[in-house]
Amino acid sequence: MITVFVYDCRVDTENEIDRDMPPRREPPRDNGYRDEYTDAAAYVHVFSSTMWPAAAPGLVAALAEVGDGTLVELGAGSGLATAEILAAVPALPMVVAEPSAALRAVLLARLHDLPGGDRVTVHPVSAQRLALPDRIAAVVGMHMIGHLRPDDRRALFAGLSQRLAPGAPVVISTFPPAEAVATGPIEPMRVARGEATYEVTARAEPSGPDSVRWTSDYTTRIGDEVLETTRAEYEWWVHSPERIADELASAGLSARVEGDLVVARPPS
Ligand SMILES: C[S@@+](CC[C@H](N)C(=O)[O-])C[C@H]1O[C@@H](n2cnc3c(N)ncnc32)[C@H](O)[C@@H]1O
Repeated sequence: MITVFVYDCRVDTENEIDRDMPPRREPPRDNGYRDEYTDAAAYVHVFSSTMWPAAAPGLVAALAEVGDGTLVELGAGSGLATAEILAAVPALPMVVAEPSAALRAVLLARLHDLPGGDRVTVHPVSAQRLALPDRIAAVVGMHMIGHLRPDDRRALFAGLSQRLAPGAPVVISTFPPAEAVATGPIEPMRVARGEATYEVTARAEPSGPDSVRWTSDYTTRIGDEVLETTRAEYEWWVHSPERIADELASAGLSARVEGDLVVARPPS
């Protein structure tokens, strides 16, 4: 007998299976959290994976020594850092905070095929709302810290600091501008996949004394034909690597700046 599995999304009105459904539960939301990645989600991995080779070595070096306990990743996006962490640190469990449903879809799909992907628990929350493990082996936040307001960063760093195992690193990457100034437009970046070319341009304008709004325009082309254009806007709380290092030091950690990375550990 041949069995055919059908993915059937219709409601079975005859058996009224919907009567047994648990009540809908929304993931917890932070005050003011808005998913700015919904429209850009199809482009994020295409461009991030192209830029990733430059970011990976610093992260991997910082993870050469970790503590014991649970690995924590904040704002994992499509999982590029997640893959590096899993490869660098075998065996330990990992929790991830990724608030964007669109990017979680990419992340969860990639975790399915990643060695060690079954060690990862993905929480549909922002970094501010993640229930931190009691004992943390390492923390990674790549290209995401500007999404956190300064007071949220400070509260997060204090919470992390209390839970870090001896020797556990906190690895945070920083991204310009360090002041609330107009930036760009940056040179268009193009990536070819099959017959399609994906393009992004971006510029930032001040949106407050401590923040800019990045506007990114994404385009899909085949030859001269434009198939899609999408604009995404990201609110970004400006910071320098030195400022992030100071904030981590205020949380009781020994922090040092390594290019655009900040690596902090509990004092030994
Ligand atoms: C530029 S992407 C970087 C993704 C990934 N870390 C990488 O380096 O490729 C920024 C990520 O931060 C996430 N994000 C935005 N606000 C956040 C918050 N409050 N807490 C944690 N992550 C957040 C976004 O959903 C997105 O996945």
